[in-house]
Amino acid sequence: MDQLRKLIKGEMGRDIVSLGVVDSTNSFAMELADKGASHGTVVVADSQTKGRGRMGRTWISPSGGNIYMSVILTPSIGPREATLLTIMAGVACCGALRNTTGLPVEIRWPNDLMVAHKKLGGILTEIKSGGDKIVYAVMGIGINVNTKVEDFPPEVRMIATSVRIEKGRTESRTFLMVEILNGLDRWYRVFAQKGVNTLLNEWRMLTSMMGKPVQVTMGDEIINGLAYDIDDEGMLIVKLSSGSLKRISFGDLVVLR
Ligand code: BTN
Repeated sequence: MDQLRKLIKGEMGRDIVSLGVVDSTNSFAMELADKGASHGTVVVADSQTKGRGRMGRTWISPSGGNIYMSVILTPSIGPREATLLTIMAGVACCGALRNTTGLPVEIRWPNDLMVAHKKLGGILTEIKSGGDKIVYAVMGIGINVNTKVEDFPPEVRMIATSVRIEKGRTESRTFLMVEILNGLDRWYRVFAQKGVNTLLNEWRMLTSMMGKPVQVTMGDEIINGLAYDIDDEGMLIVKLSSGSLKRISFGDLVVLR
């Protein structure tokens, strides 16, 4: 972790809490934030016993060189804009993965980091809000760096992958974390100073799903259409067969092939 600290350029990761086993780095970070931890504080762990994914799922978190980290942010935004933090993390992680591994990693709305149609990582942003403002946000990042095929439960092997599986060799999680944190620092400043457009344009360049047929499951509702764009709150716009546009704030998305 000392190596990590030395390579950090900005405010993301200036304070790093490094843990062995934890229930969830997001839970730990939220407790720290409640006690007043500052913007940019990072919690990392070697493994998690209750790693959380989106939509109440479990995030499989074995030890052995994967990334489980949570970043505390105190942005001046409202709860509706929280999705943009996930979009920002997706951009930073995707760029860092491409630079360090050379893999053609892509983003799948809203938060999946994909390679070869399999999931390499994900982002779970959780917020505490007070009225119409965010008190803090915790951006949780999970990336399968050195997971072996046999570390994944059989039912997950078809849909998940790791850098090691894709490249056939192990990768340093430290350098990847440095790239992610320095990228987050850069993109956070772009977002704070220039607004959302530059960020959304970068996001659009890192996804290939636009124009493709998608199915989104949103609670009990299933929506079919063509992925059209994301709006300036980070919502997905789907073009329905009727030609009308539908905005989607959450859900599970499958790109139909
Ligand atoms: C997803 O469902 O795609 C989001 C996965 C997010 C997992 C990360 S691992 C670090 C942080 N701590 C958690 O409990 N979850 C996030």
